[in-house]
Amino acid sequence: MENGAPESWVIDNHKDGLFRVHRRTFTDPHVLALEKERVFAQCWLYAGHESEIPNPGDFRTRQVAGRPVILVRGTDGQVRVLLNTCTHRGAQVCREKSGTTKTFQCAYHAWTYNNQGELVGVPGEDAYSEAFDRRQLGLVTAPRTESYRGFVFVSFNPAMENLVSYLAGAREYLDLVCDQSENGMEIISGTQLYSMRANWKLLVENSIDGYHALPTHKRYFLEFLPDTGVEVQRMRIAGTAKSLGNGHAVIANPEIPFGRPVADWIPAWGEAKKAEIEAMYQKLIARFGAEHAYNIAKVSRNLLIFPNLIINDIMSVTVRTFFPLAPDYIEISAWALAPKEESPENRVLRLDNFLTFLGPGGFATPDDVEMLEACQRGYANVREVEWSDISRGMTRQAPLASDELQMQVFWRRWNELITGSRPARVREAA
Ligand code: FES
Ligand SMILES: [Fe+2]
Repeated sequence: MENGAPESWVIDNHKDGLFRVHRRTFTDPHVLALEKERVFAQCWLYAGHESEIPNPGDFRTRQVAGRPVILVRGTDGQVRVLLNTCTHRGAQVCREKSGTTKTFQCAYHAWTYNNQGELVGVPGEDAYSEAFDRRQLGLVTAPRTESYRGFVFVSFNPAMENLVSYLAGAREYLDLVCDQSENGMEIISGTQLYSMRANWKLLVENSIDGYHALPTHKRYFLEFLPDTGVEVQRMRIAGTAKSLGNGHAVIANPEIPFGRPVADWIPAWGEAKKAEIEAMYQKLIARFGAEHAYNIAKVSRNLLIFPNLIINDIMSVTVRTFFPLAPDYIEISAWALAPKEESPENRVLRLDNFLTFLGPGGFATPDDVEMLEACQRGYANVREVEWSDISRGMTRQAPLASDELQMQVFWRRWNELITGSRPARVREAA
């Protein structure tokens, strides 16, 4: 570690109810190097959704933890995450964003792979020796790939524990998302791609931060919402925060009238929509019982799946992931998720809602970007002002969404991985 590193990155003082994080964790390239090795090369990371590649041959390319990958459904129907690098001399073999194909041909020397990653064509193969074996030169898959109800994750640690046990209590919250549909949820085509000049952990904190909502998004809550007929003064802010194990956490807010085209009507959609949305809610009650239906439809959630997957189940369902290219720079990808059977009309309402608040040009995201970049700029003073305080509600029996328990949960797990005090759990056989 660089000279002058603090003895500890995190102060977790239960006795006095104080929690502090050293600001070098947001600025120091050595910390980022440790994160790449101990967090991003270990943990399960979201790679995409099965609905993005519904048919054999469908593929999408993207970055997962800085690695170019191809999310592809092979002719055999299996979903794979192939590392997008030619086994010849390394070029990315697929340079398209998405498509449907039987083969990927590298543009450099034209080696050809099928959509299951096998090397099926090498121009002038007779120039190679006996020892050259195509069967060993297929595209390499991510060391581990597993899905949970359509969400595809990869881990670059071959010995990582299985996905379901890694998800721990977060699984129940993914179920609340997936149960919104009888036929399965799908990613709506189109990706929001944006970046910010801020450390990635600031976006983790912000994505599950109930405390900032009113001051940061004043324009939305005090101007926009009242204009659409929402009685903001009657909003019941009674949210809670919960640790879900393994660094995952959630904040859940009942009955904030954001509107959700599965079962939560708002005035902006007009009286005519009211009965249809209420009927959807009754259907959920019939399928799952009153309590589960209420939790699905009337409670909004911001879910963190450690380290870098956020599912905002408010208005629409937003799936967001991000990766640091530098201590002070991240790239973010976000998608909208919706029931497959949703009517075109309701799809429009959903997308409208998705873009109005959480879109990169919406009411919320630009405010958040400005605040996170302001934090990052503030850290230029790190030598004199070393610590951030994340203690809010620390001694409260049942922490609120406006407390900071959910961030403490993240930071504790982060600290365990970075310091090696509790490394990533591995499979029994490993
Ligand atoms: S690098 Fe791909 S064929 Fe040569
Ligand atoms: Fe925000």
